[in-house]
Amino acid sequence: MKLKATVALVTLFATFIAGFSSTAIAAGDAARGQTFYATCGACHGANGEGLEALGSPALAGQEEWYVIRQLQNFKSGIRGKDPRDTYGMQMAPMAMTLPTDQAMEDVAAYISTLGD
Ligand code: HEC
Repeated sequence: MKLKATVALVTLFATFIAGFSSTAIAAGDAARGQTFYATCGACHGANGEGLEALGSPALAGQEEWYVIRQLQNFKSGIRGKDPRDTYGMQMAPMAMTLPTDQAMEDVAAYISTLGD
């Protein structure tokens, strides 16, 4: 009886979390992300191949979740805030061009299509 109640509660909780996380931000839309990528391509290359002369790493082939985390880090100042971090300081304002979390998801979804 007690176990059944616990199972029901856990199931309810899991359903709530799953529902919450999926409605909070929709999965990235690569087509929308492509429009944001127009800015990024200037340094990272049209196909996300990177450009060493600018210190811009290849983005093609990067994990979507990792790209999102780095963009959040740049936007929140965890990366690219130290004046000694020349390249990071160039990237940080670029992350600011992504107005919402959804925009980050979208551009990351587009990046994940590069280099296929
Ligand atoms: C002015 C040139 C420039 C533009 C434009 C630019 N970036 Fe960058 N980006 C960089 C540089 C330089 C780095 C490397 C930073 C470092 O060394 O820490 C970087 C790093 C990154 C990283 C981290 C890669 C890793 O492996 O940690 C991501 C993700 C990224 N950029 C995504 C983007 C996206 C998305 C856009 C477009 C919204 C964009 N960048 C626009 C220059 C640029």
